[in-house]
Amino acid sequence: MRKLLFTLLLGSAIMSNAQELPKNYASLLKEVEPQLISWRRHFHEFPELSNREVNTGKFIAEFLKTLPNVEVRYPVAKTGVVAVLKGGKPGSVVALRADIDALPVYERVNIPFASKVTTDFNGQKVSVMHACGHDSHTAMLMATAKVLSALQKEVPGTVVFLFQPAEEGAPGNEEGGAPLMIKEGALDNPKVDAVFGIHISAQTPVGTIKYKSGSFMASSDWFTIRVNGKGSHGSMPWGGVDPIAASAQIIEGLQHIVSRQSDLTKAPVVITVGTINSGVRSNIIPEYAEMSGTIRTLDSKMQEEVHERIKHTAETIAESTGAKAIVNIETKTLVTYNDPALVKKTIPSLIKAAGDENVSESTWTTGAEDFSFYAAKAPSFFFNVGALPKGTDPKNSAPHHTPDFYLDESGFIVGVKAFTQIVFDYNKTK
Ligand code: NI
Repeated sequence: MRKLLFTLLLGSAIMSNAQELPKNYASLLKEVEPQLISWRRHFHEFPELSNREVNTGKFIAEFLKTLPNVEVRYPVAKTGVVAVLKGGKPGSVVALRADIDALPVYERVNIPFASKVTTDFNGQKVSVMHACGHDSHTAMLMATAKVLSALQKEVPGTVVFLFQPAEEGAPGNEEGGAPLMIKEGALDNPKVDAVFGIHISAQTPVGTIKYKSGSFMASSDWFTIRVNGKGSHGSMPWGGVDPIAASAQIIEGLQHIVSRQSDLTKAPVVITVGTINSGVRSNIIPEYAEMSGTIRTLDSKMQEEVHERIKHTAETIAESTGAKAIVNIETKTLVTYNDPALVKKTIPSLIKAAGDENVSESTWTTGAEDFSFYAAKAPSFFFNVGALPKGTDPKNSAPHHTPDFYLDESGFIVGVKAFTQIVFDYNKTK
């Protein structure tokens, strides 16, 4: 018995030794951290909107071209960069992804590198801010590329670095984001075996990693419903068909899909009507009303069901009032699905990167990610790295996409460690 235990212990010691990173790894990390922070500050100060990341893309590509053993493809998906590092040891192809775009948000944080950038967005003058932390994603992946390039001889397999534009959605009818990266061959040549991605989190304590196996982030669909009625004098509604009254019933009906028809024990569903427009004057019944909204689900079958129900509910309620509803649903992202086997296999790497006590499971989120498109193509794992300053209550931290959004930079190196560790462990723990 004791002998068996000893053999087991020895076995696991050998295994973990086999996964140790090269000796100079620690010094490489130390060296890259100040650079990582200065890159992030640069991107933060000069943010660019989706599909307009011209200088950001150029900056990344030029840096990657200086790294030994790294082959750079640029531009990909308009302003993106794909870089390939062939390791000195045999193994699979692992892709690491960072998104590079910023948002039309006015920055209110008092930091020396705060953004003062303004630009044109849909014909409107807007301020631009890295209000979702994609600046940190970009910097973390550049730092990972630098470390892995220096360790090339020891690196098992091939690493593909995906610097992806337009995660927040391309403007107008433009193509962009993960679907365009995939269309332009980012996961082929070499064919990628697994994809990993990090999202920094302003609500997760600095130094920690949170993950969820299976469905993690929601699918996001945008819908519009146009309700065609018949105009009338406001004093004589019976002379027309009131599209506003019909719309009110439809909005009620949509919430009943969530509260009465969806199996919420399986997964959450959210339907939000975000705009409603109709009419010009208080005593005129208008001819039509238009609303738009978003749908979030965490199960692709439920997503399909909800689409059907929204169509059915809007059309039949409108019909019962004498109006006609035209429903249009557009899928923006899929459910971000973390491959359970890959998650299980990767947890030890995350623990090595952040420490046993700093890696924990999270719940799903109704936020959405276009990383989901990679996850639909290859086994993938998307997880959160914390950047909430120590001692801060997450409730008091500004949400992503808001003017006071703030990240503690000391958390970024954990992302670099996680990515690097994953590359070294992926082939060995198979
Ligand atoms: Ni984001």
